[in-house]
This record gives sequence, structure tokens and C-alpha cells, in this order.
Amino acid sequence: MGTNKIGLENKPVLELVDHLNILLANYQIHYQKVRGCHWNIRGRQFFELHVKFEELYNNAQITIDELAERVLTLGKSPVSTFKEYIEIADLKEIKTEGLSEVEMVEAILEDFKKLIEIEREVIANASENANDEGTADMVIAFLRFKEKTSWMFRAWSGKK
Ligand SMILES: [Fe+2]
Repeated sequence: MGTNKIGLENKPVLELVDHLNILLANYQIHYQKVRGCHWNIRGRQFFELHVKFEELYNNAQITIDELAERVLTLGKSPVSTFKEYIEIADLKEIKTEGLSEVEMVEAILEDFKKLIEIEREVIANASENANDEGTADMVIAFLRFKEKTSWMFRAWSGKK
């Protein structure tokens, strides 16, 4: 069994890369959903949420770039077409036009829940199968951000 240029075993790392690409595809669907919320938000909380959604999609964009560049670091190409994103992602696109602010926040919370689930699997895969602590550490930071932001959105919506 060979190792790659940074000393990781090829077989488990290439499986991990596929897993990272799935996370990347899901993130792209999420990114566009949050952009839609930023554009279509209406009502008394416009100013607050318009800005908050922008903060979130900017964060998602950075996350997506880090994921793609990690895929390249590990020796493969990141998925880069919307066709592939839609094919391999678990998250679904939604129309954000006409959604209430509560519906938008709930849609984002649902995405977070799914993304967190995938990230926990990626982290376990990275550290247990591929011995790749670099990837695990990177994804743990993404996970922690969404865990905290989920709490904030639940607090905003008055949910437990
Ligand atoms: Fe904008």
C-alpha cells in the first residue's frame, strides 16, 4: 500500500477525498440557499437578517474554498459544477422567494443539522481510517462554527 506526497496512505485518503467532495457539494447547495435568503428577506427584520445571511454565506464561501483546496492537497480534483452538486448532495435546493423570516431561519437550521451530521462522519473517517488529522482539524472548526450558530438561531427564534 503506497503513501502520497504528504505521507498518507493512498487508499483511505482517496476514499476520504470522495467524502470531502460530498461535503463540498452539500455546502454549495447551502451557500446558494443562504444567498437566496439574503436577497429575498422581507419585513421588519430585514436589516438584521439581510446582514446576518451575508455573514453566513461569506463564511460558507470560505469553507467551500478550504474544502476544495484540501481535496487538491490530498491529490484529487474538487467537484465544481452545479450538475454534480445537485447529483451528489443530500441537501435540496429551495425557492426562498416568499418565505417568512422564520421559515428562512428554519431552512438554514435544517441545512446545518445535515451538514453537521456529514462533518461528524468525515471527521471520524479522517482520523480513524485515513490517519489524516489535518483534515479532521479543519472540519472540526467548520463543525464548531455551525454548532454555535445553530444555538444563536434557535435563541433568535425562541426555540430550545
Ligand atoms: Fe448583498
